[in-house]
Amino acid sequence: MARITAGVTTSHVPAIGAALDNGKSAEPYWAPVFAGYNFSKQWIAEQQPDVIFLVYNDHATAFSLDMVPTFAIGCAGEFAPADEGWGPRPVPVVKGHPELASHIAQSVIQDDFDLTIVNKMDVDHGLTVPLSLMFGQPEAWPCLVIPFAVNVVLYPPPSGRRCYELGKALRRAVESFDADLNVQVWGTGGMSHQLQGPRAGLINKAFDNDFLDRIVNSPEELSHMPHIDYVREAGSEGIELVMWLIMRGALNDRVIERHRFYHVPASNTAVGHLVLENG
Ligand code: DHB
Ligand code: FE
Repeated sequence: MARITAGVTTSHVPAIGAALDNGKSAEPYWAPVFAGYNFSKQWIAEQQPDVIFLVYNDHATAFSLDMVPTFAIGCAGEFAPADEGWGPRPVPVVKGHPELASHIAQSVIQDDFDLTIVNKMDVDHGLTVPLSLMFGQPEAWPCLVIPFAVNVVLYPPPSGRRCYELGKALRRAVESFDADLNVQVWGTGGMSHQLQGPRAGLINKAFDNDFLDRIVNSPEELSHMPHIDYVREAGSEGIELVMWLIMRGALNDRVIERHRFYHVPASNTAVGHLVLENG
């Protein structure tokens, strides 16, 4: 059977992608950001996952504000990097796993979660920047990816509680897929940041570090935190953090923390990153 072996969380700042694509990753501003992923690059080369279930948010790229699904699963065979205004990032096409994605859709929907099935979708920095941070600049991404888009752009986003429970349903789905697959679940976005309004530029290091502790050690309790706490403490875009709870719900109650990284600033965002193994 397929099994979930590990979880990864990471922020997805678009300027990180631009720094890498334009050869600036060794510059003094960016070098400490990329250094935080050195362990992770080596770790993932050893882990050799077959499939990454990549929880991320679309930024009105694939889904305009005309139509915004709360949870959308990418069931296509491939997903092209989106043009976000400066042309598509020069990164490989993302190859999907239609059979596993369709199985997860069936299992999770029949487990009472409403997913939107997406058979054609471009993927923006929310998905490609985490891949770049973990894999660098390969000719082709070294594993298959199932994109899972969560609405954190148009109010109301799903609750942390629902995301955590969805992670548990995801685990049941993966573990009932009849193929020997090493599957990782990534929860991306966050940490504290606000891009607009009077509080633009907000960073809350105390909140972020507490969130890192709690998502590792007391996720059940953390899952009850209401939206308003995320927005007040971590800023309007800090609500992206609910996506990390899907990853955490898919892992064991107790996990092994293999790596933690926290860095401020990267563009307008605090960067947080965890590598968790399922013991
Ligand atoms: C920034 C962060 C984001 O999450 C995003 O989607 C766009 C920009 C930033 O920090 O600049
Ligand atoms: Fe974002």
